[in-house]
Amino acid sequence: MSNRAQFVTKMGVIAATVGSAVGLGNIWRFPYEAGQHGGGAFLIVYLLCVFLLGIPVMIAEFVIGRSTHSNALTALQKLKPGSSLSKVSYIGIVASLMILSFYSVVAGWIMEYLYQAVTGGLSGHTSEEYATLFSTFTVNPWRSVMWTLIFLLANFMVLRRGIEKGIERISNIMMPVLFVMLLVFCVNSLFMPQAKKGLDFLFNPDFSQITPKVMLGALGQAFFSLSLGLTCLLTYASYFSDKTPLVRSATVVALLDTLVAILSGIIIFPAVFSFDMEPAAGPKLVFQILPEIFQQLPGGYLWSVAFFLLLFFASITSTISMSEISITYFVEAHKMSRSRATGLNTVIAMTFGTLCALSFGVLSDFKVFGMTLFELFDYVSSNIMLPIGGVMLSVFVGWIVDKKVVEEQLTDYGARKITLMRPIRFCIRYVAPLCISLIFLYGLGVP
Ligand code: PHE
Repeated sequence: MSNRAQFVTKMGVIAATVGSAVGLGNIWRFPYEAGQHGGGAFLIVYLLCVFLLGIPVMIAEFVIGRSTHSNALTALQKLKPGSSLSKVSYIGIVASLMILSFYSVVAGWIMEYLYQAVTGGLSGHTSEEYATLFSTFTVNPWRSVMWTLIFLLANFMVLRRGIEKGIERISNIMMPVLFVMLLVFCVNSLFMPQAKKGLDFLFNPDFSQITPKVMLGALGQAFFSLSLGLTCLLTYASYFSDKTPLVRSATVVALLDTLVAILSGIIIFPAVFSFDMEPAAGPKLVFQILPEIFQQLPGGYLWSVAFFLLLFFASITSTISMSEISITYFVEAHKMSRSRATGLNTVIAMTFGTLCALSFGVLSDFKVFGMTLFELFDYVSSNIMLPIGGVMLSVFVGWIVDKKVVEEQLTDYGARKITLMRPIRFCIRYVAPLCISLIFLYGLGVP
């Protein structure tokens, strides 16, 4: 591994992995999914998915990545030559390109809102006007496509100039600031007139609402939010040093990511009920509510500018990590130069991203299985491809990789005693593959 870079400090490992995990998935997708799937019922299944399935799959990805210090395809082949499970890397490549495409549309919305915030367009409106602001903007074919392309161009520049490290350094400062801002917004939301109703919605589960569909939604959200199942964290782990505490890092990343999602819920739902909005409003939920929240805060102008700027950074650290999957593949398997590979990744995402952006306007009637292209890309990648990837990765580590290699990784080459060794292995071998498969099949209505 001589000429491969390594994360030197413990902070570096956690920060880059958290940078990948924390993003629009927590702040935009979590509240809208929870809102559509019954609030508390969703949260409870979500938490179970994160801790019983997500952490074991994350540890599995870390084991494969660090034991081989290679990209996904090579890593799986190194550990078990000829294994058909190494096809999981193709799922990762396709899923990462699909996610990049629709994610960039939402990141483009963030840029539009940042622009609106800076130019004063986000203040002094009524609720109806904020709703119209979002719908006229997303329906407008040029504007949302323009921002999608601008965002992907920014992503391209960062990757092309190899300044990911710089971005990561900036975001290491930005992330804690974002976190503190979320705390402030939380306190603000707790004082809203309908705060109790909002918190009840999120934390008081109505168990009768736990349906197979809700379970699949929560599973998909857990994997999406933790960047799991598409070998993204496997690739990051290939840069970990031998001293990185694997099990603890996975736990810390999952805890932080989940905390950010819950904070986002505590900010959004009290506001949803106080402003008399619909929790099941879908993707537009946070975009309609945030401007209202900023409007109420003293110094709302500054809060809104700072918040959308930080969210932009949180998004780009996530898109960098998902782009890396296909770029590494193009470079290593097709012998492309890095700049060509980055270009190809961007062109693919721009093409599909444009179609996803248009699916809120001119293409809104174009539906496949009753979903617009944006919805289809989101659903297929999060709820189908990531869980399948998760099953394959946990089966690979649980059943195929030599037990000694796994134990060596879990103990960080013997440096640490892991008290939960057996339960962790049990989850990787049995719980994760079985439960993910069951939720997946039930959710799709197979039996
Ligand atoms: N986890 C990221 C988020 O929550 C999204 C992501 C998914 C990033 C898959 C990389 C891979 O925003």
